[in-house]
Amino acid sequence: MNHHTLARASRRLETARLLLEAPARAHAAAIYDSVNTSLPTLGFIAWAQAPWTLERAIRFCEGGLKMVDDGECLIFNAFRRDDRAFVGRIDLHTFDFEVPRAEIGYVGDARQTGAGLMREAVLAVVAFGFRLGLARIEAISEVDNHRALHFAEHALGFRCEGRLHHRERNARGDLCDQMMFATFPSG
Ligand SMILES: CC(C)(COP(=O)(O)OP(=O)(O)OC[C@H]1O[C@@H](n2cnc3c(N)ncnc32)[C@H](O)[C@@H]1OP(=O)(O)O)[C@@H](O)C(=O)NCCC(=O)NCCS
Repeated sequence: MNHHTLARASRRLETARLLLEAPARAHAAAIYDSVNTSLPTLGFIAWAQAPWTLERAIRFCEGGLKMVDDGECLIFNAFRRDDRAFVGRIDLHTFDFEVPRAEIGYVGDARQTGAGLMREAVLAVVAFGFRLGLARIEAISEVDNHRALHFAEHALGFRCEGRLHHRERNARGDLCDQMMFATFPSG
């Protein structure tokens, strides 16, 4: 596995209820609306601390597509198949090709929460990562992000590997502790 593996990987996944597509400029209006509507639930997300403009959403989609084209990461925007409503963004990033392993990130639209749609989208991206050859996928969340901790452990079934002290600065710039979760091809 290397950067070429990622750059050549499928840009589209399907699940029972969702279509997952690599970022496109055409997604910008939906993401602009989603970020601004979901701001109260995005307190742990550094790039969503204030309302967005449509131009910011366009740059976000175009920048995401460039990272996918460069084989730097895999990014999927998930939409409901029935009404094309935006459900969330899932990415595999921070690859270590020697292992190989990656970290998964996910941000959902607050209006779609609780229907299992983010679970469905994230598990599809996890399965895709394993098909590409990943031996380990990590999910790392701040210890105070209770919704994300519950999601990783109970909805996704990831294994909790413990607490990482002062690993990063949070969205407010303070040193914070995080929980490390991981999942493996064998489950
Ligand atoms: C973390 C996050 C992605 C979780 O998303 P979510 O919308 O709660 O995800 P889901 O709806 O898939 O959650 C599963 C829930 O749906 C329920 N559910 C309903 N229908 C379901 C179905 N058909 N299949 C599976 N689960 C179903 C599950 O029982 C579960 O309920 P519970 O939370 O009461 O246990 C979301 O809270 C979020 O975007 N947070 C802000 C961003 C963030 O902090 N991201 C993490 C950064 S590390």
